[in-house]
Amino acid sequence: MQEFDGKTAVISGGAEGIGLNLARTLGAAGMNIVLADIEAAPLAAAEKVLQEAGIPVLAVEMDVALFEDWQRTAQAATERFGAVHALVNNAGVSGGIGAIETLDDPGWRWTIDVNLMGVVYGANVFVPLMKRHGEQSWLINVASMAGMAGAPLGGAYTATKAAVVALAEAWFEELKGENIQVSVLAPAFVKTRIHQSYRNRQPRYATDVAPTPDVFKIAKVTTEAVNNGIDVEIVGKRVVEAMKAGELYIFTHPSYRVVTDHRSAVIADAFDKATASPELQGVLNEKLISFAD
Ligand SMILES: NC(=O)c1ccc[n+]([C@@H]2O[C@H](COP(=O)([O-])OP(=O)(O)OC[C@H]3O[C@@H](n4cnc5c(N)ncnc54)[C@H](O)[C@@H]3O)[C@@H](O)[C@H]2O)c1
Repeated sequence: MQEFDGKTAVISGGAEGIGLNLARTLGAAGMNIVLADIEAAPLAAAEKVLQEAGIPVLAVEMDVALFEDWQRTAQAATERFGAVHALVNNAGVSGGIGAIETLDDPGWRWTIDVNLMGVVYGANVFVPLMKRHGEQSWLINVASMAGMAGAPLGGAYTATKAAVVALAEAWFEELKGENIQVSVLAPAFVKTRIHQSYRNRQPRYATDVAPTPDVFKIAKVTTEAVNNGIDVEIVGKRVVEAMKAGELYIFTHPSYRVVTDHRSAVIADAFDKATASPELQGVLNEKLISFAD
């Protein structure tokens, strides 16, 4: 626990679910906790829970989709605790769901702004601060198994979670020399209120389009899966274990390995076809370019 003791973690979407559990776990390991969340009442309740557990905590009501809210969060965090050593980009919404033709523009915008731009803004604000103090730090993106392979009828959620995985892979290489350990958490179903994300849909993303039957069908299946998912406590413990070990990919559902194994096999097969293609025989030995070197 030595490496966490007295350090500070900012957790977006920390008012409940995976974020709150991670706050409790990292707080129990000795960290100061900044809970950053859009929903006032659960945020106040979460702050109280941590205070009662003797964890130094600061609650900031904010919207991850607004860059200025991240700047305000950083200012409040540093004023209260000094240097910030961990950013958990956890806030996320299930977002617009449905078939391609039923996913409307406000649904896409809401999902992209929270799930993707929220992660980008968090990193934009906190990574420079971590680079400046140079102490051991962590940057954790919360993605999903949906980001490891496409989930049909969940286009917006899938796209944003795949982007968050890709960002973690890019940042892992980019920040290697900066004493910042980058990880991406990719859970399958966990018992939280993620299936009730609409409670936090900001008015600026309102839509007039009535949900189609397929939306109700997916919502029902997702609700059942989430309610039968694993407990958040398992996720918190697993993340801390992976942070200590410096793991890039953090999985919580070993049985879902079939999903990535299948994807890898399909991609390997596609490369075999490209290698055998008469059209590509002249470019088989193209120089491999890597920006990481
Ligand atoms: N529960 C699952 O089955 C599951 C599976 C895979 C990935 N995830 C991911 O885990 C993360 C946490 O979700 P959860 O399952 O704990 O759900 P949750 O709904 O219980 O918690 C999400 C938290 O994010 C907050 N939030 C929502 N929009 C926000 C915004 N614009 N600004 C700030 N805070 C905002 C909510 O108020 C809430 O406290 C999400 O990124 C989600 O996509 C969850």
